[in-house]
Amino acid sequence: MAASPSTAPAPSSSASAAVVFAVNGERVELREGDVDPGATLLEFLRTRTRFTGPKFGCGEGGCGACVVLLSAYDAASGAVSHAAVSSCLTLVHGLHHRAVTTTEGLGRVGAGGLHAVHERLAGFHASQCGFCTPGVCMSLAAALAGAKAKAQAGRRPDDPPEGFAARLTAAEAERAVAGNLCRCTGYRPIADACKSFAADVDLEDLGLNSFWRKGDAHASKLPRYDEGSIGVFPELLKAEIRASSGIDDLYTPPALVGSASTWHRPRSVEEYYKLVGSELFGESRTKVVVGNTASGVYRETEVYDRYIDLRCIPELNSVSKEANGVHIGAAVSISQAIEILRVEAGGCNDVVFCKIADHMEKVASPFVRNTASLGGNLIMAQRDQFASDITTILLAAGSSICIQASSRRLTVTLEDFLQMPPCDHKTLLLSIYIPRWTPIGSLSGGKTMDGTVSKIGTSVLFETYRAAPRPLGNAVAYLNSAFLAQVSSDATSSSLMLRELCLAFGAYGSQHAIRARNVEKLLVGKPITVSVLLEACRLLKETIVPKEGTRHAGYRSSLAVAFLFSFLYPVTEGTLKPLKAVHLNGYVTCGTNGNPNCGPDAHVDVSLKKINDVNSGSCTNDRILEYSNQIIEINKDYLPDGIPTKKVGAELQASGEAVFVDDIPAPKDCVYGAFIYSTKPLAHVKSIELDLLLKQLKTLGVVTVKDIPEGGSNVGANTIFGPEPLFGDPVTQCAGEPLGVVIAETQRFANIAAKRAVIDYSTENLDAPILSIEEAVKRCSYFETPPFLLPQKIGDFSKGMAEADQKISSEVKLNSQYYFYMETQAALAIPDEDNCMVVYSSSQCPETAQNVIAKCLGLPCHNVRVVTRRVGGGFGGKAVRSLPVATACALAAFKLRRPVRMYLDRKTDMIVTGGRHPMKICYSVGFKSDGKFTALHIDLFINAGMTKDVSLIIPHNFIEALKKYNWGAFSYEAKVCKTNIATKSAMRGPGEVQGSYVAEAIIEHVSSMLSADANLVRHRNLHTVESLALFHSECTEDAMGYTLHSICDQVTASETYQRRLEIIQSFNKSNKWKKRGLSFVPIVHKVLSRPTPGKVSILNDGSIAVEVGGIELGQGLWTKVKQMAAFGLGQLCPDRSQELLERIRVVQADTLSNVQGGWTTGSTTSESSCEAVRHACNVLVDRLKPVKEQFQEKQGNVSWDELISKAIMIGVDLSAREYYVPGPSGSYLNYGAATSEVEIDLLTGASTIVRSDLIYDCGQSLNPAVDLGQVEGAFVQGIGYFMNEEYVTNSDGLLISDGTWTYKIPTVDTIPKQFNVKLLNSGFHKKRVLSSKASGEPPLLLAASVHCATREAIRAARNEPHCSGFGPSPSHFDLEVPAIMPVVKELCGLDNVESIWGATIASCSFSALCDKRCN
Ligand SMILES: Cc1cc2nc3c(=O)[nH]c(=O)nc-3n(C[C@H](O)[C@H](O)[C@H](O)COP(=O)(O)OP(=O)(O)OC[C@H]3O[C@@H](n4cnc5c(N)ncnc54)[C@H](O)[C@@H]3O)c2cc1C
Ligand code: FES
Ligand code: FES
Repeated sequence: MAASPSTAPAPSSSASAAVVFAVNGERVELREGDVDPGATLLEFLRTRTRFTGPKFGCGEGGCGACVVLLSAYDAASGAVSHAAVSSCLTLVHGLHHRAVTTTEGLGRVGAGGLHAVHERLAGFHASQCGFCTPGVCMSLAAALAGAKAKAQAGRRPDDPPEGFAARLTAAEAERAVAGNLCRCTGYRPIADACKSFAADVDLEDLGLNSFWRKGDAHASKLPRYDEGSIGVFPELLKAEIRASSGIDDLYTPPALVGSASTWHRPRSVEEYYKLVGSELFGESRTKVVVGNTASGVYRETEVYDRYIDLRCIPELNSVSKEANGVHIGAAVSISQAIEILRVEAGGCNDVVFCKIADHMEKVASPFVRNTASLGGNLIMAQRDQFASDITTILLAAGSSICIQASSRRLTVTLEDFLQMPPCDHKTLLLSIYIPRWTPIGSLSGGKTMDGTVSKIGTSVLFETYRAAPRPLGNAVAYLNSAFLAQVSSDATSSSLMLRELCLAFGAYGSQHAIRARNVEKLLVGKPITVSVLLEACRLLKETIVPKEGTRHAGYRSSLAVAFLFSFLYPVTEGTLKPLKAVHLNGYVTCGTNGNPNCGPDAHVDVSLKKINDVNSGSCTNDRILEYSNQIIEINKDYLPDGIPTKKVGAELQASGEAVFVDDIPAPKDCVYGAFIYSTKPLAHVKSIELDLLLKQLKTLGVVTVKDIPEGGSNVGANTIFGPEPLFGDPVTQCAGEPLGVVIAETQRFANIAAKRAVIDYSTENLDAPILSIEEAVKRCSYFETPPFLLPQKIGDFSKGMAEADQKISSEVKLNSQYYFYMETQAALAIPDEDNCMVVYSSSQCPETAQNVIAKCLGLPCHNVRVVTRRVGGGFGGKAVRSLPVATACALAAFKLRRPVRMYLDRKTDMIVTGGRHPMKICYSVGFKSDGKFTALHIDLFINAGMTKDVSLIIPHNFIEALKKYNWGAFSYEAKVCKTNIATKSAMRGPGEVQGSYVAEAIIEHVSSMLSADANLVRHRNLHTVESLALFHSECTEDAMGYTLHSICDQVTASETYQRRLEIIQSFNKSNKWKKRGLSFVPIVHKVLSRPTPGKVSILNDGSIAVEVGGIELGQGLWTKVKQMAAFGLGQLCPDRSQELLERIRVVQADTLSNVQGGWTTGSTTSESSCEAVRHACNVLVDRLKPVKEQFQEKQGNVSWDELISKAIMIGVDLSAREYYVPGPSGSYLNYGAATSEVEIDLLTGASTIVRSDLIYDCGQSLNPAVDLGQVEGAFVQGIGYFMNEEYVTNSDGLLISDGTWTYKIPTVDTIPKQFNVKLLNSGFHKKRVLSSKASGEPPLLLAASVHCATREAIRAARNEPHCSGFGPSPSHFDLEVPAIMPVVKELCGLDNVESIWGATIASCSFSALCDKRCN
């Protein structure tokens, strides 16, 4: 087909070259040379405007930190449409005539007031570090705007109920933030804040908040939401658009020249070809874009000369509907395509359209789908072997596409298109045609797959599936598939026959999606019996073979079988109606079935909808989170301490006004740095060269070890165990070690230059690197642990073993975990006079940063000022690992004598910062036949990586946490291995999470040997007060303080727990493909308080400034400190401590203002900082009390202001600094327990956390809202470690799961469906700070309950009579950490479909099988 002639005239050369858009209502005009066309909207906003709300979290569309609202105005209809978009992928030159709203555009603390979205996020305690919060706000705002638009279009009841709720359902509200990552909160409070806008929510179901007390909820107490307040399109821009309306296309600039590149917007296909055929494009590097979301998939390491934006070509945006199908332009976004298909599906009458739309809703996240085009997706699949969902589902639906290659236009089937040679930019994808499939007879003209109309009536079956780490998408699938079948009754046998069949599979590690034609051939025309189906499954397994090197290859093939089986099995039953529960009971894939409303041909067991909903999340309106409960007890002894006040700065975080390091405006002449790191584990670095061809990058060179000034040294970090080098020189010790810093004019250019640097390595005369614990042991490569750090051994191990009835030995291996703080490592270094340096660092230990920088630069410490205001999440990763970044940045600034900023891109951050320690643990345990332990020996091997960091404390932490049970006698050997991998550092619960988990693994092993209930074995071995004193002699505890037994009794001795066990047993008995497990895990977690300073200064107007050593990381340190200062000074005016609270400001840490700040680690910095502040307040109170008494004598009552004025007048020193030193009782034990119930899907290996109940002893909480947030957030981070976060390295030890694409932290759809937390107020603890206890790290250990419950569920699966092949002891097996889907499936049998149904066939008589199909 020839190209349609373009009616658009040639672009006017006199058209003014400008892109005009609005940001938060302000007009922006980009003119020639203003901004490089490769700049994203995020880069533009953060560097060229004052708005810093949108944050850089990943640059891959995978985290949501950068989400903004993009609005378009249609001059013809006057309508304004809104969509959330990821500004990190959106190119700024593509924004002509759009309006951008950032969180600042909704409202501000400073000016105009906050928006209800901000206030509710803050009031529901839904922000901790606050780095994710602006993005969350904008995802929610977009959902509210979308709901309003739908209501206006008549798709929602017109009026929201009285109050403030918008036209949004609770399910939609939760889903709105499904693509937003938050590493701090655990999502529950975020979901509650979102649901507070929903019309159908029962407000009493929402969690702890600052608007009402439980039982007293009312909408009038919520900050008012005005529906008109979101996404107001500037009238100015509207007028401009109207003025250019109709002629807009002619006069919008065809090309815009950036610094060296040009941006082109052809207005027709013809113009496109003229452009690419022109001289300008001859040798140039050209990038053709629509949504530009591919740059999230394939990270940008290229710079381009020419950009061509296809979105101005009307043909590519058109949609044409026919009776037989729909043509959708290639530039249409996935979100728009969903809308189109939903309309075409007419509810769900057209099952194919409906299910394609359902499946598309699991592609990426709303803010990616809103700009990602259908065509872009297909091209990526065709050209780049992208693991596309869209291709697979459209392939099964028999779609075709229209392409143009130069002057030739042709229509080909999607299947043929995929097999063509990879497209270049001479090929344009114009449109996609999706045919309409209807049961024959019900609609004339209905299509069959071979184009003929069958004489027999047929039904159309269509189903799509995907198995992915996250149920709601935002994760690429391990395998996806879509099946379309025409089924009819055979006239003679009355059996059901497949007349036509299309089986499409993709994303499993193939070149592109394929049809399994050999299997189709086998099945078509035959009556479908179980044995035919099994034969098809076997053939399919031989067909779906991932290419070499694909991870979890066997698992992917098994998924293909599982999906085919679940699709066709119901057809074997001779009906298209729902089956009895006995068959595919409870099964639903992570795909789109499971929705009983999806058309007449949908085959699903309605009775099992409840179970199905857990995974499906498809076009249902069911909630992700079913229920949550928070129980806290408020202690009023030390008011305003103990009150669940809102977090300090929560509103500022929501409105984007909170300043993180990268938000500090760039000083004049600022340049940017990026690490060049080694990709080899042990090699001489002979040279580092930049790619000089990339002139646009404007690099200023590389800072290396040679630039360290005289008197300085190559030091990048320091701990009590010694220093470590800043740069690998002359030999790099690991892949991921920084070798130098590239300096460029923008952060993007620096990042690209660093990635493209060419490093010449040589391994001459070097040994082979040590990359594993085994190799380190073989070569005796250890760091020596100082004996004082090693915990005591208990009793006589040999004697204990001799007393045992049984002995077992085994080993456990544990991998690493990445911190995934949302703000990556950042620093800004500004040279000051007289060889001084000011460094703003996102660090948990500014004091050490100051020392290390001074040492590196050869300066005295007083020349270096390190300032840290707040940190966007740390989790231990911004302690030692922040130091090399701050130091390198300072070194570069020192060398260049100009400000330098470094903000690591996510990949570099993941690679250079190491993470949690991998370990190998060998154990031998002796026990009695009743499960009582008599002795345990542990051989512990810790992989520390190339330097010591703080690894030498890990054995201590591990052993202390393991000692939560009474092992009888206990001995151990611990080795800290020195290897050639990136240095491992402390991560939340360092060593403790592994120690506590290994104790559970041993319990599970022992109970499987005894065939006993693991939970009984746990109870049996809990410490008594006496044995606790023996195992934890340095933390003496009286019976009142040792609350673990009462906690465990509360979680497991209740009737409900027993009842749940029974329900689970009966569930497991009656479900073949779903199994559940319940487990409880107790913890004993030791923490240690360290010395910390606190400084309180009362200013002339009576306001109070507080400085502490501790850093606000999101853990609520400032909030507790503020409350403590109000309590401390409140002694002067006991009735007015609440008023005082309002007058206190905690200020940033500054190493020259408040020395000896120490480290913010180990969960105790908040309480230590509080105690230091209390002491400082006491000093002030002592100074002010006499003044007050004197005053009172004279004039009676005295106000705070009068008191301060008087004190100033008589010369009282109103500033006090105290250094709190905890003393010998510095360490203490924390207790808690959790029960978790997990459901696994035997076909996909998916796990769903049905419910978790946590009880945690917080002592008398200083702020229950803050502590509750810590407990929930830590637990969910622990879930990530145990269930989700696969940490993968290559053969050189280089991390390859190095971004949001491959490293999957929990999201709102992977947390417990029911999530209940109780903070136990265990009363008076005289040695603790106001009787409080720590909450930051211990609760993370409780997440092992999820892993243990998963193990129970797998055990139930392996005990199925049909299951075989698990050896003589099916109930004992190693369940890896993390227990990701492939791991679970493998333990349930990769061939469980074949073996279960094979066994069924074998047990049926042949005739019954043929005639009744084993019904
Ligand atoms: C975080 C994230 C998660 C994702 N998850 C999924 C997922 O789960 N499943 C899935 O299927 N996809 C997923 N995707 C992929 C996403 O669907 C694609 O990136 C998107 O559809 C590409 O469209 P685009 O308009 O942004 O293309 P662009 O990025 O603009 O272009 C992509 C490529 O296609 C070329 N191109 C675009 N349009 C045309 C055309 N009409 N003719 C010729 N060439 C063209 C461009 O030159 C470019 O090379 C995900 C993407 C991201 C960023
Ligand atoms: S920074 Fe844009 S999605 Fe993560
Ligand atoms: S509050 Fe969400 S990442 Fe910190």
